[in-house]
Amino acid sequence: MPPEPTHDERLAEFEARIARGEKIEPGDWMPDRYRQQLIRMISQHAHSEIVGMLPEGAWIGHAPSLRRKLILIAKVQDEAGHGQYLYHAAESLGAERQDLIDALLSGKAKYSNIFNYPTLTWADVGMIGWLVDGAAIKNQTMLTGASYGPYSRAMVRICAEETFHYKQGKEMVSLYAQGTPRQRKMAQDALDRWWWPSLMMFGPPDDDSPNSAVLMRWGIKLRSNDTLRQEFIDEIVPELHAAGLRIPDTDLRYDTDSGHWRTGPIDWDEFWRVIQGGGPMNRERLRARREAHDDGLWVREAMAAYASRLAVTSDQ
Ligand code: 3HC
Repeated sequence: MPPEPTHDERLAEFEARIARGEKIEPGDWMPDRYRQQLIRMISQHAHSEIVGMLPEGAWIGHAPSLRRKLILIAKVQDEAGHGQYLYHAAESLGAERQDLIDALLSGKAKYSNIFNYPTLTWADVGMIGWLVDGAAIKNQTMLTGASYGPYSRAMVRICAEETFHYKQGKEMVSLYAQGTPRQRKMAQDALDRWWWPSLMMFGPPDDDSPNSAVLMRWGIKLRSNDTLRQEFIDEIVPELHAAGLRIPDTDLRYDTDSGHWRTGPIDWDEFWRVIQGGGPMNRERLRARREAHDDGLWVREAMAAYASRLAVTSDQ
């Protein structure tokens, strides 16, 4: 029998597999830190999808037409599905779903900063599709190449669906931006509210991002927070201008030397405050999630009873 490989040999083989572009699968050897980082990131992502249903879900009953209502219902339902794929991906690493949910409901777990802002008008629903889903796609298209197989495969499907979300948002806001004075104001106000929080979605600047080094070393993140944010800015600024919208940043300028749009400073104090529970809607989001969880108890009990019944009958 050959001797058991040492930890260092296993680590070297693990890193060589990543360098060859192979996917790491659930039963494969992986460093504990890789597993922990993935569980952290995937569970935060799952929570973001689930909490993300709330700001838009609140508008289902107020959609201005049946067509818009159908689109919004489908979109909110998609987010629930994304949360499910992602909780499964975290479970494939040995995490217990109940622990993840408990961490969310107790306020211990993080979820995307963006869902701690209120949706004040119907145009916010469109702006979330255009800006928030647009930013999410930028980040998650990169993650389709992540080294962990179940996460990267979940991302392929999620990005396909997010693309519809982005397109319906862009279509809706562009229409309002060319509409009546009231519609134009509604679209502009929505951009004023969502612009800066959307840029924060990519995470803190690279110098203040404690997790990036290890995530990039092991092929989970393939590009840095600032790189993705800049790519997003370069793509979205011309789109918003083409729709006739004004970006709420007096320092915004096109730098001809680098070929990039440069924004003014991002308020990182606001970002840290929001992700630590001090945003305008943090308390309300957690209250709503706890209520939904309590309301769903009978469904979980019925499913558990059904599963144990199936187990008994399949034994007979
Ligand atoms: N919102 C909340 N917390 C954030 C954040 C954000 N936008 N960006 C960073 N943070 C937190 C991190 O979780 C980390 O906290 P922790 O160490 O306590 O876990 C801390 O700020 C420092 O940030 P880092 O840059 O070190 O963190 P990461 O390297 O993990 O990068 C990330 C942050 C870019 C968000 C990365 O985790 C990532 O790519 N995650 C997967 C994508 C994701 O979660 N997207 C959610 C978007 S919403 C969505 O998809 C719903 C759709 O319907 C729009």
